[in-house]
Amino acid sequence: MAVIASVAARVINDSRGQPTIEVTVTDDKGRIATASLPSGSSLGKYEAVTQDAQQVVNSINKVIAPALLRQPLTDQATIDAKLRSFDDTANHEKLGVNSLLGISLACARLLAQDHNLSLYHYIFTISGGPGLTIPTPMFNLLNGGKHAENNLDFQEYMVIPIGFKTFHEKLAAGKKVFSALGTILSETGHITKIGAEGGYAPHLSTNEEGLGVLVQAIQSAGYEPGKDFVLGVDVAASALPPTYSATVDNYLALYRNFPLFSLEDPFVEDDWESWAKLKVGVDGLSEPGNPRLLVGDDLFVGNKDRLLEGVKKFSANAVLIKINQAGTLTEIIEAIKIAREHNYVHILSHRSGETLDSFVSDLAIGTAAAFIKAGSANEQAPERIVKYERLVEVEEELNIGHI
Ligand code: PGA
Ligand code: ZN
Repeated sequence: MAVIASVAARVINDSRGQPTIEVTVTDDKGRIATASLPSGSSLGKYEAVTQDAQQVVNSINKVIAPALLRQPLTDQATIDAKLRSFDDTANHEKLGVNSLLGISLACARLLAQDHNLSLYHYIFTISGGPGLTIPTPMFNLLNGGKHAENNLDFQEYMVIPIGFKTFHEKLAAGKKVFSALGTILSETGHITKIGAEGGYAPHLSTNEEGLGVLVQAIQSAGYEPGKDFVLGVDVAASALPPTYSATVDNYLALYRNFPLFSLEDPFVEDDWESWAKLKVGVDGLSEPGNPRLLVGDDLFVGNKDRLLEGVKKFSANAVLIKINQAGTLTEIIEAIKIAREHNYVHILSHRSGETLDSFVSDLAIGTAAAFIKAGSANEQAPERIVKYERLVEVEEELNIGHI
């Protein structure tokens, strides 16, 4: 069996120019694997703690790396348990989740190589199915809230291609809508500045105008709203300005007035009651067999205990899974398994601060996520496009949808 030969971390910059970490792990068979970590700006109150990048590099290189030398690369659960032994606090406040996660992901890549499996196939194996799928993208074309210097209250205004067969077609259509949106914004005198996730960040008079302009862009690109594309919104309620009235009725009006399919974090993470009330309303608006999504991101922070609490309180029907919110890969997969058991849709997600690592795409494929959020379909945002391109590549490899 292969054993760990070296672990080394260094500081790199993410897409927002902020320091984050990259970890490289090698084994005694000469294999090398690297992973780099994203970081968020609209942090959930219950997220695992992220420590300063330089401090994390020191913890890895001085404390964790020496203790992992000659450690057998047995399996993910054993390696992750060993990693957690360096910081067994519930929210990883001692060393920071980023001290453990980069090593966990790099080891996953080594274990995949050791088993002669592609990363997504390895993840499929350790997460127990149900199959390999290419998720449908949720393209975040308009950026607001903490992700932009504009006046939009909601953080993300997304278009979701549902009327296409292959991922390749979905990406091409998303790029057309993004381009049409740029034309509409400039023709109507708006700025076409780009926000954190590669979408446009104009000043618009209302949040409804944001959704309206997406509908226009879908039409102008030659597609039918509600049929080819539906809409998604991430409110990121904890970052809402006090001027916005987050009420069940206001959100239900959005579902009624727009082809809105997915609504994320409409309320803050402790307001279980409002979530449950909205869920009843959303279910009432959904056609049988085609539920509209009410997505918990900061509500659940990808944490299995919070997810179980949400299930008990009927608060949502979908969970956002971000790589760096809960712990090691094993903990991420545990949360996904719980989502699966309770019929929650799980959506894989990047962060607003990203790197060129596309682990999240393989994780989505291997755990059969229905959707992925990886930002705008903007060629000028390589840290977003690399995630989508990875999905195109695997689709070709598996010939999914090309039959
Ligand atoms: P973050 O935003 O990465 O800045 O936390 C993403 C999200 O809230 O979905
Ligand atoms: Zn969110």
